[in-house]
Amino acid sequence: MEFVSKHNIIDILNDNGINERLFRYADEIRKKYVGDDVHLRGLVEFSNICKRTCKYCGLRCENKKLERYRIEPADIVSYAKNAVEKGYKTIVLQSGEDDYYSVDKMCKIISEIKKYNVALTLSIGEKSYEEYKAYKDAGADRYLLRIETTDKNLYGQMHPKMNFENRIRCLESLKTLGFEVGSGCLVGLPNQTIESLANDILFFKEIKADMIGIGPFIPHPDTPLKDAEKGSFDLALKVMAITRILLKDINIPATTAMETLKPNGRIIALQSGANVVMPNVTATEYRKKYEIYPDKICINENPDQCLNCISAKIKSIGRTISSGYGSHKIG
Ligand code: 5AD
Ligand code: FES
Repeated sequence: MEFVSKHNIIDILNDNGINERLFRYADEIRKKYVGDDVHLRGLVEFSNICKRTCKYCGLRCENKKLERYRIEPADIVSYAKNAVEKGYKTIVLQSGEDDYYSVDKMCKIISEIKKYNVALTLSIGEKSYEEYKAYKDAGADRYLLRIETTDKNLYGQMHPKMNFENRIRCLESLKTLGFEVGSGCLVGLPNQTIESLANDILFFKEIKADMIGIGPFIPHPDTPLKDAEKGSFDLALKVMAITRILLKDINIPATTAMETLKPNGRIIALQSGANVVMPNVTATEYRKKYEIYPDKICINENPDQCLNCISAKIKSIGRTISSGYGSHKIG
């Protein structure tokens, strides 16, 4: 299978007769370029407070039904420490865009966690170049910021008062500063076309992404998109598989949203190009409040249960749990 052109990608996305072949090929490329190791990233969802109004997201500030929480810096560090003690080599700090965490507060959290000799990823949204630089100087290694969609018109519809150019500027700033940069998109947004998904994939290549997370859109009942149709698991898996085939050695997570739509969705993703899983290491009490979309998995489990559960599943398909940092650049 060769993907020379956008037309090619569109044809493959439209042709469901080739799905099994596509997934098998993506699995072969994954094995050849990044091997059988699965990298686990311990995810701390530290605040569900968000100043943005993304139409699809349950954390949007206009959702008054959601009970909000914020975890204090010392507790964030302690969740990270517990995760490191369980063997995690990467910690991901994720939140809504919550200005309570000033640059100073974030930098302190970062430098405390870095004392544990762990790779640190941030996923806290759009910031200025100076803020990103401060995080980098404090020791953060990686940053996740999905473009969500490269269709500018759709981007505008989905993100009131946000700006596509600024999102691109953020991704460029992060690259310039030497972060490993993760991006990605939603699959199945209302009015999203197959052509725009092909453009998304080509965009990932163009920006030389180090990581790409892809997940189906899942309508949240307390958002303006509550009556929209949910994204297709198979289509999201295809976008992910083609991304693996095109970008070859990058890190690709088997996303939680995949498993929300299909039992064992993360394992299916790991067998169709993915090589990363991000188990939740946040205390159980917060989990159901981090409701980006409904029916999220793992909301009643605790960090140990998730680690045991996913480790057993990974081993059951003949894959190994990585003992390295799982960086795109130095392995
Ligand atoms: N369904 C699926 N994924 C969603 N995200 C936000 N809202 C939804 C939803 N309703 C994804 C976005 C964001 C990531 C943290 O969660 O892509 O970047
Ligand atoms: Fe959380 Fe399986 S990974 S219960």
